[in-house]
Amino acid sequence: MSYRVAIVGATGLVGRTMLDVLAERRFPIGEVTLLASQRSAGTTIEWNGRSHRVEALTPAIAEAGFDLALFSAGSAVSKEYAPLFARHGTIVVDNSSAWRADPNVPLVVPEVNGHRALEHRGIIANPNCSTIQLAVALAPIERLFGIERVVVATYQSVSGAGAKGVAQLDAELSGIEPTVRISQHPLAHNAVFHPIAGDGWSEEERKVMSELRRIMERPDMAVVATCVRLPFYRSHAEAVWVECRTTVELDALVEAYRTAPGIELQTDDYPTPRTVSGTDAVWIGRVRRDPSNPCAVVLWIVADNVRKGAATNAVQIVELLVRHNALSSSQRLAGAIL
Ligand SMILES: NC(=O)c1ccc[n+]([C@@H]2O[C@H](COP(=O)([O-])OP(=O)(O)OC[C@H]3O[C@@H](n4cnc5c(N)ncnc54)[C@H](OP(=O)(O)O)[C@@H]3O)[C@@H](O)[C@H]2O)c1
Repeated sequence: MSYRVAIVGATGLVGRTMLDVLAERRFPIGEVTLLASQRSAGTTIEWNGRSHRVEALTPAIAEAGFDLALFSAGSAVSKEYAPLFARHGTIVVDNSSAWRADPNVPLVVPEVNGHRALEHRGIIANPNCSTIQLAVALAPIERLFGIERVVVATYQSVSGAGAKGVAQLDAELSGIEPTVRISQHPLAHNAVFHPIAGDGWSEEERKVMSELRRIMERPDMAVVATCVRLPFYRSHAEAVWVECRTTVELDALVEAYRTAPGIELQTDDYPTPRTVSGTDAVWIGRVRRDPSNPCAVVLWIVADNVRKGAATNAVQIVELLVRHNALSSSQRLAGAIL
């Protein structure tokens, strides 16, 4: 069986990487339709040995009825178009934040709450990149010891903000005035925050805190995040302190990390954004017990934000649907009510 797939935002960082990941993992695509804004209409993308024309996203295309649409074109596009695609029988996996808080839309990390994907009503949300790697790393701790509180500081690359982030850092490192910006502060040789709202929190910090509780199905979990942008291109790192309900048995946790799907435990050295970029795993290092609290553990987590933090997670969701025979037409029509 092969599928008719639309990639919405195909010219972007995540869209192009989704195409790479689909090809690498030999996802059975019968026909692919590449969609972006009017700006890119008519350009071509080389994929799977062929040149594919990019088309402008329009309501008429949404009505064509694909098996699957992978969205990475920002929240506004997802809000407007994901329901249109879903209404025409297409299962949408959306990388934006548009649907992540909607109780009717599952928010899925396959290694943590994959079963939720099967409850979709036409749209499945891919979580925020920083949250995906955090959830994968915390799931074994939750299973073994039960989590009381998570304190996380992120060290995020500029590609987390898409092509604009990369362009601002590129320009600054070349000594040119940037024409696009993700921060009013310089990124080069600096540490900056995501835009901070009137209540003192950034949207990124809010996403990490609320999405983590939702994915781990622990609305009561205490989570506090400080999200920082640093001047490197790819992958996000996180320093995490986790307080548990019971004493942390370090040997049991290390053993769980050695066997958990999607996790690479690095003990000979520690993972860095440069060493893990281009991989699909969540890398964990520096696992230590808090000397001041036997129920707390400290770790360092690094993953490629564009791959596991977006494209790979989305493709894994789709693979999960295929494994459960949930991409067949009858299943889709039964599920689509949005
Ligand atoms: N970068 C990450 O690490 C990451 C991780 C998780 C989630 N995400 C989410 O994924 C989405 C895309 O991120 P990105 O990093 O790939 O951004 P990007 O590199 O800036 O790409 C944006 C894509 O959206 C398309 N687009 C913009 N406006 C459009 C419109 N009106 N109609 C149709 N297509 C439109 C762009 O097409 P044109 O080329 O024609 O402008 C481009 O293909 C965002 O929602 C982001 O929050 C990103």
